[in-house]
Amino acid sequence: MIYLDHNATTPLAPEALEAMTPYMREHFGNPSSIHSAGRKARVALDEAREQVAALIHARPQEIVFTASGTESDNLAIKGVAWALQDKGRHIITSQAEHPAVLNACGDLQKQGFQIDFLPVDGDCRVDPQSLMDAVSEDTILISIHHANNEVGTLQDINALGTIARERGILFHTDAVQSVGKIPIDVGGGGGEKFPVDLLSFSAHKLNGPKGAGALFIRNSVPPLASLISGGGQEKKRRGGTENVAGIVGFGKAAELAGTFLDSGGPGYLQSLRDRLLDGLKQSGLEFKIFGSPGRHLPNTLGIAFDGVLGETLMISLDMEGICISTGSACSSGALSSSHVLKAMGIEDEWIDRSLRISVGGSNMLEEMDAVAEALTRLTARIRSGAGKLSPASAVEEAET
Ligand SMILES: Cc1ncc(COP(=O)(O)O)c(C=O)c1O
Repeated sequence: MIYLDHNATTPLAPEALEAMTPYMREHFGNPSSIHSAGRKARVALDEAREQVAALIHARPQEIVFTASGTESDNLAIKGVAWALQDKGRHIITSQAEHPAVLNACGDLQKQGFQIDFLPVDGDCRVDPQSLMDAVSEDTILISIHHANNEVGTLQDINALGTIARERGILFHTDAVQSVGKIPIDVGGGGGEKFPVDLLSFSAHKLNGPKGAGALFIRNSVPPLASLISGGGQEKKRRGGTENVAGIVGFGKAAELAGTFLDSGGPGYLQSLRDRLLDGLKQSGLEFKIFGSPGRHLPNTLGIAFDGVLGETLMISLDMEGICISTGSACSSGALSSSHVLKAMGIEDEWIDRSLRISVGGSNMLEEMDAVAEALTRLTARIRSGAGKLSPASAVEEAET
């Protein structure tokens, strides 16, 4: 199998699995227990918090563990909205957010909050001027993602976050796709380098286990309302006995991701993407690339081939053992066009052709040659009508 869907999820690093295993076997204590078994689990949680914080240059006490990136987004957005609703009820986000953000904001809209969904340009970027124009006296939160999961475009967080900071408005970014793929530094004595107050990320996108996420909450942020009431876990910010093994795996994966970033990992991801693109260009295939040519995640390629449905190509590749994703998302049992590509103003026929290829650190350069060859051959075959597949029947699937 050649796996090129790392924006959906990544393989668990063997070192992370190894670190987790003792916490599912012998060290099963509850970290809230005072006895030695509990203390053993507590020490493991503390260590994981340090590892996870270090990856983004945060302080350990600024990390809250959750169960997913989705929960982190919900905690940031609803936690701020519910805590600050007496101050204001206006929130600004963008049309190209992941459903975790869009739907959290949608829930708040039903509760009477006013939400502005800012447009993006043809490269999927939010114009800082449009953010400035949208801000009002009533704005309590701005939530703009860092890297887009479908096309890989990176937002100018420095410009957007600075607008928020200058006006005393909290700024949240969904960095689920960027943490571990490119360096992120929320530190720098108050966060000049990356001026965000809250940042969501998720273990399974960086070779950690599923079921563990984190929300960075800068020390200066006032207490958030919690989504889950219960015991005093996570300093009363998230009730529920912690997923100790998952969090330990997250910690190990974060440590490995730090080493990957320090040892040229992003450059390697970019070279994989470049090699694939070179192969496709040499083949003479006609295709379009989506997203910002200058500022994008090094691992992500949003692409569409002239005259070929993305879904047909995805299924044909799957039959050859190559896993990629379509640009269009299937959710709640119905095929729906990508809201991101729509917001970028891409024509429907090209949205239907769109694919997402996302490489990872364990991919090899030679695999890119094999994928370029398969894409060239299958595209020609599908265009000629031979082996043409009708779109798969709708499957229950969530957007990733
Ligand atoms: C940008 C973005 N935000 C949030 C999420 C949700 O993360 P999780 O799968 O950990 O809930 C994803 C997952 O694909 C994502 O790509």
